[in-house]
Amino acid sequence: MRQPHARFAVIGQPVDHSLSPYIHKHFANQWSVDLDYDRLELSPEALTQGLTRFAAEGGVGANVTLPHKRAVMDLCGELAPRARRAQSVNTLSVIDGVWHGDNTDGVGLVNDLCLRRNIDLRGRRMLLLGAGGAAFGVTPALMDAGIGELVVCNRTPERADDLVDALQEPERAHTRYWQDLPELGHFDLIINATSAGRGTQPLQLPFRLAGTQTVAVDLSYGMAAIDFLAWAKAAGCGEAFDGLGMLVEQAAESFRIWQGVRPDTEAVYAELRRLADGEGAVE
Ligand code: ATR
Repeated sequence: MRQPHARFAVIGQPVDHSLSPYIHKHFANQWSVDLDYDRLELSPEALTQGLTRFAAEGGVGANVTLPHKRAVMDLCGELAPRARRAQSVNTLSVIDGVWHGDNTDGVGLVNDLCLRRNIDLRGRRMLLLGAGGAAFGVTPALMDAGIGELVVCNRTPERADDLVDALQEPERAHTRYWQDLPELGHFDLIINATSAGRGTQPLQLPFRLAGTQTVAVDLSYGMAAIDFLAWAKAAGCGEAFDGLGMLVEQAAESFRIWQGVRPDTEAVYAELRRLADGEGAVE
């Protein structure tokens, strides 16, 4: 009898537009790995039970997306150091009946910046907009990549303070008030980790944050990134891109954790980029 495929899923709410199944099936084909990768929509109330059922039905690994990245930490028997530092989990693996939590978002962003786009992060002056889950998820990896100065600005300043306190890098990382943005000068790198693009209140950003050498990155993609990328263009940033590359790279790192091999990301990234730019089909 044929063995059932190993089962994987992306868990969140909503997940119906998630590109993760497409990306993981692409990687699996590359390595001739048999797997099922589904979307599993779970409300916060259903998370614990849903994950238990998923494991009982043969689930061995999962990606975790909004709004569960922090809550799922409590269900993990073990946490990778980078998940602990990011205070969020986006990759779960069942090992000996216990959920192991890891976070591949930070390394995904750094790999997109450094490997795909040849950006050297060492010594750079960086502005991080936002201090929610997405911001927490990527900051430790950016610091590890050698960022020279990190300025964190958040509409609610206490959350920015929490983020910087958690980094324990007083020499390199500090917070500034949102209203002081016009006074902060140019940045080499501006990362939008706010959820403004998914809401109704647009980001209010001064042009003078950017120069011709500035790289602007939105961690979102699709419609959610449009406003920030339009601002970056109008402000004269040298380069501006969305989080599609990060999405593919974080998936590649999850695949490596589960399968022990690193997939090549170029083909699937090029395909998603073509769809996003050409047909606007990537949401
Ligand atoms: P995510 O998991 O996507 O990071 P989150 O944890 O709810 O979502 O965090 C959303 C972030 O976007 C927060 O930093 C939020 O700022 P507040 O802490 O002040 O709420 C930020 N944000 C959302 N809408 C914004 C807007 N219109 N302008 C500025 N910041 C905004």
